[in-house]
Amino acid sequence: MTSPSRSPDIHVVILAAGQGMRMKSALPKVLHLVGGRPMLEHVLRTAATVNPVSTTVVVGHMAENVRRHVRDRAQLGVVVQEPQLGTAHALQQVEAALTGKTGTLLLLSGDVPLLRPATLQGLLRTHLEAQAAATVATAIVERPYGYGRILRAAGRIVRIVEERDASRAERQVREINSGIYAFDLAPLFHALRTIAARNAQGEYYLTDLVAVYRRRRRPVETFVVQDASEIRGVNSRTELAEVSTVMRQKKNEELMAAGVTLIDPATTYIDSDVQVGPDTVIHPGVVLQGQTRIGAACEIHACVRIADTEIADRVTVHNFCLIVGARVAEGASIGPFAHLRPDTEVGQAAKVGNFVELKKTTLGAGSKANHLSYLGDATIGPNVNVGAGTITCNYDGRQKHQTVIEEGAFIGSDSQLVAPVRIGKGAYVAAGSSITEDVPAGALGIARGRQTNVEGWVERKTNKGPAKA
Ligand code: UD1
Ligand code: CA
Repeated sequence: MTSPSRSPDIHVVILAAGQGMRMKSALPKVLHLVGGRPMLEHVLRTAATVNPVSTTVVVGHMAENVRRHVRDRAQLGVVVQEPQLGTAHALQQVEAALTGKTGTLLLLSGDVPLLRPATLQGLLRTHLEAQAAATVATAIVERPYGYGRILRAAGRIVRIVEERDASRAERQVREINSGIYAFDLAPLFHALRTIAARNAQGEYYLTDLVAVYRRRRRPVETFVVQDASEIRGVNSRTELAEVSTVMRQKKNEELMAAGVTLIDPATTYIDSDVQVGPDTVIHPGVVLQGQTRIGAACEIHACVRIADTEIADRVTVHNFCLIVGARVAEGASIGPFAHLRPDTEVGQAAKVGNFVELKKTTLGAGSKANHLSYLGDATIGPNVNVGAGTITCNYDGRQKHQTVIEEGAFIGSDSQLVAPVRIGKGAYVAAGSSITEDVPAGALGIARGRQTNVEGWVERKTNKGPAKA
């Protein structure tokens, strides 16, 4: 697909310097999340699929924030544009970084996160086959408002006009500029210098390059993107929500195609990176976030949020659970109304019931904590029964302490285990105990006031006459 005269090298540049004023945010626009990932992250991943020789992000507004986000990526250049005088000015900032380089510059926008790799391939193919100086990715949309319009003569692109500078007739044009382009590097930076800031915003518009090249009789091509939703840009919170909805629908469709049942896709919120195994059933109002992985044949009931968690096969999560940073083994059952906090591990076929909170705790295989418990900083072996209302007192006001409950132990209801403390293998703790010392294996720990029954007390009380107020 490459002509012998041209270098096959691809250099990606991502524009991310704009202030994003319409977002009214303290966060740089490109770091706003879509499908649980910063928009810039989506664009970087798509860019990586064309195997670029270099990738450069142009940052400006809140540069440090954006730079921090991309810091640990090798082979990623960051160039600062200060002040931000428009898209042409932004692209000029990478000239120094690309001096002496030849091939194709693929220009992407940090605020266009839905773009698919196949579309980039199509754009590059069109560009290289036509040996164009510039190829503009365009789309035909119902509501072109806000975008630059593609003006053609005899079918060929002649100019792009921005919304604010367009005449009423030009505004009727429904073919829009996606802000994504392929450029031949050779003439690019020289031509950029001829762009002036004569427009409604007083900015240097990259879109003016089309007219510049036309005047110089250099070939300019267009590549029409079929699915216009892909090139939607995010400039406001409304557009952020719209783009997020599209991203979410795509994710839902992918999962359903892979054998996951979504009872109501419209109310199912699954981040881009989440994986779900086949035959898992997801009920309405479920939110799966971050690096969550859910196995096969699980059932996640309504109104559950799971973030950065690994769930194995055949696990049931009942209604109204919050699970963050946990691991749940095969066949376990969680909830309803359970809270699994970071560094919790629930073993195979273990059960965590209603109003149970686990933090930095391992619950062994086959163990049960079925009702009303707080288990924090605890290592609980297999086949342990944690009675209703059991609490690990893990905090002394300054430090956290560990509780160990060994295999097969039985903790009677309403017990407090004052950490650090160890309950030995097979030991029992009597209901209502406040355990402050270790209970050896096989022993019964009992730590509560003895019961006294006062015989005849009720009768004596009632015969003494009227009760005092
Ligand atoms: C731009 C295009 C418009 C196109 C639309 C597609 C221009 C003049 N207009 O308009 O034709 O339809 O994108 O989404 O190019 N940026 C910088 N530095 C700047 C200004 C912008 O890096 O000085 C970055 C922004 O962060 C953003 C991108 O360039 O990622 C586009 O800028 P934005 O201000 O959003 O342009 P639009 O008005 O959307
Ligand atoms: Ca934009």
